[in-house]
Amino acid sequence: MSEPPLITTRGLRKSFGDKEILRGIDLDVHAGDVVCLLGPSGSGKSTLLRCLNLLETPDVGEITFAGKRVRPGPDADTHRRQVGMVFQRFNLFPHLTVLQNLTLAPREVLGLDPAAADTLARALLERVGLGDRGQAWPHELSGGQQQRVAIARALAMKPRVMLFDEVTSALDPELVGEVLAVMRGLATEGMTMVVVTHLMSFARDVGKRVVFLDGGVVVESGEAAGTLDAPRTERLKEFLGHLV
Ligand SMILES: Nc1ncnc2c1ncn2[C@@H]1O[C@H](COP(=O)(O)OP(=O)(O)O)[C@@H](O)[C@H]1O
Ligand SMILES: [Mg+2]
Repeated sequence: MSEPPLITTRGLRKSFGDKEILRGIDLDVHAGDVVCLLGPSGSGKSTLLRCLNLLETPDVGEITFAGKRVRPGPDADTHRRQVGMVFQRFNLFPHLTVLQNLTLAPREVLGLDPAAADTLARALLERVGLGDRGQAWPHELSGGQQQRVAIARALAMKPRVMLFDEVTSALDPELVGEVLAVMRGLATEGMTMVVVTHLMSFARDVGKRVVFLDGGVVVESGEAAGTLDAPRTERLKEFLGHLV
């Protein structure tokens, strides 16, 4: 028997007002998987990611994490700690140095003492290739560097899964590669990742599976390279045809 999935959703539904954005999502993410979420703008990708770490509360359906049902309420903070998230905008605290950005949550949430938090932060900065920038302020860094700090900051909570929501979309083209390289490294190390991206080369090379959302439902999913090379549904074919 193979391991049960690290995350599952079953029948997940979410509306905003009278608009149903997620219309019954079943998703399995196994430990060590890199699942790339694809789909047109407005298809519900961000909403699904936000449900996975309970930034949004689903209206209907269930989420499990490590075999346990995840519910909003008292367990939400514990769950969120295990699910790191990085957004399109870097969201670093502008009034804190890079190191302070990285040590804040480990100290306040995980209760690490300052020395331990500092050691952890420096190791993570090395890992994202910014070992020498700990004393810098966010505004002194390029967008690509800020995004790498944001990834390191999420990793500082020692999450079991990382969610990435179009993290390279706001970057100048020449800065995209350095962020993708960090993500690729994490994937190689076995991090479980759910990645919303429009970069099909990344989905193909780093993704293990792709899940194509349209109109709040999973239209097609499967092994990454095979699905992208030979989509079975007209909708995915058409979507891929529109990408440059
Ligand atoms: N908090 C919210 N309140 C109202 N509408 C929202 C909210 N979040 C998302 N939406 C709407 O849900 C739809 C899907 O959004 P989203 O999940 O961000 O799609 P995607 O990430 O695939 O572009 C959009 O039309 C968006 O306007
Ligand atoms: Mg989105």
